[in-house]
Amino acid sequence: MVAGESLICPAGDLLDGGDGVRFRVLHHGRPEPAFAVRYGGQVYAYLNRCAHVPVELDWMPGKFFDLTRHQLICAVHGAHYDPRNGRCTMGPCRGASLISLAVIERDGLVFLEAGSVLAEQ
Ligand code: FES
Repeated sequence: MVAGESLICPAGDLLDGGDGVRFRVLHHGRPEPAFAVRYGGQVYAYLNRCAHVPVELDWMPGKFFDLTRHQLICAVHGAHYDPRNGRCTMGPCRGASLISLAVIERDGLVFLEAGSVLAEQ
């Protein structure tokens, strides 16, 4: 692990379009819920906070993708987000974005590039 990086999960925990991995992260000094998903072979991570109302997106723990497995969806009012950039493509916050977290996949592991991952509660 490189200095400044923090382990999120084994890479194998993230299947393309599959369940996300929830974690908590220190963001601007505050613990915040976050998640990582894989889409198109790449891993993406975001704060688990809808751009419409600041609530967690997943309709069950780790369920971030809609039925097509091509969009992230908020369980509360159905906002859809592009998993590649977190931009809301449909719903009440269209055009707004999730807050992305930089991640890197290396040696079969997924790391937060900067910041501290806290144990999920
Ligand atoms: S809280 Fe997510 S769409 Fe309204």
